[in-house]
Amino acid sequence: MNRRWRQLLTVFTLLASVAIAQTQAAPQRAANASPDVTVPSLSQALAPFFPVGAAVTPDDTAGPHAELLKRHFGSVVAENDMKWARIHPGEEKYDFTRADKIVAFARDNHLLVRGHTLLWHKQNPSWLFKDANGNDLQPTPENKALVLSRLEKHIRTVAAHYRDDVYAWDVVNEVIDPSEPDGMRRTPWFLLTGTDYLDTAFRVAREVAPKAKLYINDYDTTDPVKRQYLFNLVRDLKRRGVPVDGVGHQMHINIDCPSVADFVETVNMFAQLGVDQQVTELDMSVYHTGADAYTVAHPEALAKQAERYRELFDALRQLKGKITAVTFWGIADDHTWLAHFPKNRDDWPLLFDAHAQPKAAFWGIVDSRRLTPKNAGGVAGQ
Ligand code: G3I
Repeated sequence: MNRRWRQLLTVFTLLASVAIAQTQAAPQRAANASPDVTVPSLSQALAPFFPVGAAVTPDDTAGPHAELLKRHFGSVVAENDMKWARIHPGEEKYDFTRADKIVAFARDNHLLVRGHTLLWHKQNPSWLFKDANGNDLQPTPENKALVLSRLEKHIRTVAAHYRDDVYAWDVVNEVIDPSEPDGMRRTPWFLLTGTDYLDTAFRVAREVAPKAKLYINDYDTTDPVKRQYLFNLVRDLKRRGVPVDGVGHQMHINIDCPSVADFVETVNMFAQLGVDQQVTELDMSVYHTGADAYTVAHPEALAKQAERYRELFDALRQLKGKITAVTFWGIADDHTWLAHFPKNRDDWPLLFDAHAQPKAAFWGIVDSRRLTPKNAGGVAGQ
């Protein structure tokens, strides 16, 4: 490279980094940002294929996030507010306030509601696996009956409360652990009840919310060992008449993996069971490893992210009929669980930036002709 080219490259790099610092700096909530209403609607673009949703908090029911929800999404799920710790904090105490706010917003704006989740091993209230004296429940037949009755009561109350609103429940979440010889995660649910908690959860949910689709939801479902355990479990539940309707693939992915081909293979594998399938928690970290941490998003990473989203949604469109909904785990980059996982660091995993503007990733899905090959954040004609 001669001197003149080197100078030009330096100037270009400087300009590019200024532009990036302006548009893709560390995500912070931009309360006054206003979404661009001239861009096409994400949910309309995908309407022929499946509804598109987002995980939300009650704060998202006002301000720029609410505007994005109304324009670009057809469905919501509570990121945390239907989990046990929030909705059932004391054995005799339920608190529907936060979740009700989300559901009311959905109703007012004609959005579908997914329910997440009726059973998990995280975000549980402290009383759940304790006896009347505050001691941890030990695995005995009496405690098994106690935990199953607590589970039944919880589902009867919560699923009934949202009977007319929630069209699909993540009945159980993350029950598979491929490192266990039988593939079942060693949670208190399992240690105290064996696999009976699965039967109770699905049967009670079906009874209380007969119109809702009932899902088993998990992450890393493209992992061959894990998905085989999940496949076998769903097959066995169905054989025994346990009412499982669908498998949720969380899809917390990154710009490298898993491959879209592996995802397609997974969906086709579960299709053999005749179950519904949804992508339930989609986001795409810009990092390759847990060690990295950037203060501005690298343009190459955003370009790769856009390309990966394009490829994934091309595949999802092809899977029409097998995939019945796609839900993002968040709305815009100013609020993502990845800011705290696997450590505190900025990340830019979603389709809208911290100012509620569509990223290259958005165009990768909605209209890839508007992606420019060289500029990660840029869009042709803008
Ligand atoms: O609400 C408290 C707040 O009172 C307290 O001051 C603060 C201090 O840390 O914590 C707040 O709770 C946090 C909660 O999110 C709400 O922000 C918890 O610490 C934090 O652990 C919790 O993280 C949630 C995580 O599940 C828990 O494992 C994330 O927001 C949520 O996005 C994430 O969602 C899960 C899905 O449910 C299941 N699949 C994986 C997905 C990502 O982990």
